[in-house]
Amino acid sequence: RAMKLADYQAPGFSVSDIYLEFDLQDEQTRVTAISQVQRVDSAIRDLELDGKKLILEGLWINGTQTEVSLTEQGIRLTEVPDQFELRIETLIDPVNNHALEGLYKSGGAFCTQCEAQGFRRITYFLDRPDVMARYRVKVIADKQDCPYLLANGNLIDSGDAEQGRHWALWEDPFPKPCYLFALVAGDFDKLEDQFTTHSGRQVELQLFVDKGNVSRGQHALDSLKKAMAWDEQKYGLEYDLDIYMIVAVDFFNMGAMENKGLNIFNSKYVLADAASATDQDYFNIESVIAHEYFHNWTGNRVTCRDWFQLSLKEGLTVFRDQQFSADMASAAIVRINQVRVMREHQFAEDSGPMAHPIRPAEVMEMNNFYSVTVYDKGAEVIRMLHTLLGEQGFRKGMDCYISRHDGQAVTCDDFVQAMEDANQRDLSLFRGWYSQSGTPVISVDCEWDESTQQLRLDLTQKTPPTADQAEKQPLHIPVAIEVVPVSGQGEGRSEVLSLTGQQQRFTFENISAEPAVALLTGFSAPVKVDYQSTPGHQLAVILYASDPVARWDACQQLVSDAIFTIAQNDARTVPDFPIELFAGLLEQAQTEPALIAEMLELPSFETLAQQRDRIDVDALLGARKQLKTLLAEKFSAQWQRLFIQLSNPQYDYQQQQVERRRLSGVCLSYLACTEASLDILRQAYKHSDNMTDTLAVLKACQAENLPLFDELMQDFEQRWHDDPLVMDKWFALHAGRQHPGCLSTLQLLMSHGRYSINNPNRVRSVMGTFAFYNTEGFHRRDGSGYRFLTDYLLELDAVNPQVAARLITPMIQYAKLDENRQQKIRLQLLRLFEHKSLSRDLYEKVQKAL
Ligand code: ARG
Ligand code: ZN
Repeated sequence: RAMKLADYQAPGFSVSDIYLEFDLQDEQTRVTAISQVQRVDSAIRDLELDGKKLILEGLWINGTQTEVSLTEQGIRLTEVPDQFELRIETLIDPVNNHALEGLYKSGGAFCTQCEAQGFRRITYFLDRPDVMARYRVKVIADKQDCPYLLANGNLIDSGDAEQGRHWALWEDPFPKPCYLFALVAGDFDKLEDQFTTHSGRQVELQLFVDKGNVSRGQHALDSLKKAMAWDEQKYGLEYDLDIYMIVAVDFFNMGAMENKGLNIFNSKYVLADAASATDQDYFNIESVIAHEYFHNWTGNRVTCRDWFQLSLKEGLTVFRDQQFSADMASAAIVRINQVRVMREHQFAEDSGPMAHPIRPAEVMEMNNFYSVTVYDKGAEVIRMLHTLLGEQGFRKGMDCYISRHDGQAVTCDDFVQAMEDANQRDLSLFRGWYSQSGTPVISVDCEWDESTQQLRLDLTQKTPPTADQAEKQPLHIPVAIEVVPVSGQGEGRSEVLSLTGQQQRFTFENISAEPAVALLTGFSAPVKVDYQSTPGHQLAVILYASDPVARWDACQQLVSDAIFTIAQNDARTVPDFPIELFAGLLEQAQTEPALIAEMLELPSFETLAQQRDRIDVDALLGARKQLKTLLAEKFSAQWQRLFIQLSNPQYDYQQQQVERRRLSGVCLSYLACTEASLDILRQAYKHSDNMTDTLAVLKACQAENLPLFDELMQDFEQRWHDDPLVMDKWFALHAGRQHPGCLSTLQLLMSHGRYSINNPNRVRSVMGTFAFYNTEGFHRRDGSGYRFLTDYLLELDAVNPQVAARLITPMIQYAKLDENRQQKIRLQLLRLFEHKSLSRDLYEKVQKAL
């Protein structure tokens, strides 16, 4: 059964205050919840509470023990008073909670994950975000095992208890929905720092990491301080409690969680040092730390009315973390990588069976909607508002939104309304982005008339039907364009066109020289563009456009066209234009290493696939490989020379170094395709003082299936076997290797002593890498890759359905594949469908995919 947005009803009861007491024990933790309940809708007589996997020990209304009836979702209390104290005692089992929702034990520490609906695994409650209460939490645990007892808000009191136990009492002054509740108890190393807010509040910053990891926490702590300062400066938003805590744990379903005053993180997004973390890890940590911090306003102070509104906080907070990252690092590169995410993953979601608008209308399992659509397309929608209203207009809208709704649980409509009101703008057409799924395609007809010096652009928008919605309406689309003279002589022009109708004509006067047009510069809207440009015009954009994203994009397009040409013609001759292009790029490489590195990177298989309705997997892989080898050999001397010039002094996570390492990694990836590269690779591995360079060597060897790969990987394992985060990289490198024996490799990996089906990071390293990135292995013609994944999903689903449901993604997006592969996939989906006790998470996806 699905829940529908249209069926939303306000809660019949509110809870003003709740006191929670946790008597922590591995298999039997006793939870006492005392809530002050008020009826707000006199028509609703019974109180229904959500609960899952709870043992009810007793329930009292105003001190009188009361019987309850069980419902599908939890319990029902009939004819309750208008106002009463509700006391509930439940028992839960943290150690055997491998779904990692609710209260569970990770390593030696107790921790919680309540978003979206995990609180119902802790106690019976109104588990919905529009019920906001003030929390007081008492945590009791063994003093030796759990020296630290943490919860949201401020520490009020603490003390010793009997039998070697102790306790702490916490109070959070801000009313919050239960999904923001958090508790942690365990033994950690602690890093401490301070931040003084703009208005002078002294905030204690505390970062808790596994023992022995203090030296890897500094970057996260520095990132937090940067994020706090940035939000004050950019949005005038300050932190509001006296303490901000972050705890890193090894077992976590997602990236991190913004619990009020007590963030809980996947250790992958906290721990870093030069030897064990890559530049990308450093970047991700800064971005996720900021993301969770920014939630304090966009998510916590102003929260969601219901879960259909998830993008209200996630789309907005992703947009904010992207702005932050752009300010901290290279704005162009940050944007390019975001465009990649949209094209590789979000477009795929939109064209598959799980297509949904950024505000879904129907949900079976909420965890399935923490999606690239809600998050990343959601951020693109906010970005379009920013484009349409301008920096200042957007800020005015944000100020209005925050001041109007502080302390409330609101909707996406409320957000757009605030933007409208603050700017006196009509955004009614724009609202369609919230309710319509699918990727609009903008077709372009372009003509320049030399005699009139006019450039005419006819834009047509059309959104193809999606699995969830047949009919589509035109949307308000900001189409940023840049017009550059093909000759490179004279001025270019940039403009944002507002496409509001199904078809619209735009005319530009005084274009005296032949123009090349770059469309959708900066990726100004989450759409596809259908425009038949010529290699000559693409080259002009690459050379002369001022927008780096447009230059990169033109480059990708030119190379994509070449790959498709190779894939289609049997003679397999390679067109000349990519070769000329690369010759030019390689000459320029030192002047703008970061951008050129991105330009030299061939478009991924997924990006290529998203440009076609039907794909021939083998031909496409073959063509991409052929072009890569050709470019590698043609320019082998240049790759080598550049690689040598790019060597860095001692590692530092600093912009200029990051850019050089990135380009040097690209060089290595080409060098690995050439003869006589073995020595270079071996030396590079040997002399590397950091994980970025080391991983670049291993990846290059892996991609080309060099025998050196196994040799280096053995060395790598010996050095790092005790380090879980680095071992995740090791597992992923093995799982991503495309070779005929890859399924036996997977089998070996899963019987490795360090493998555990209970650890999501490990599972993702192996099965996630295989399903998402080992294209050749996963799409084996005989269907054995699909069967392999399915066998595993059946096992994993019983342990952790949330992670299982993420891993199935590549297998439900099969519509572009050939008939044979489609049929083999459906066979496996049927196996899942017929499996008894399939989780709701997998069921929703499988049923839609069949
Ligand atoms: N709100 C978290 C974030 O984006 C994500 C939590 C998702 N949890 C889940 N069970 N789906 O920062
Ligand atoms: Zn978030």
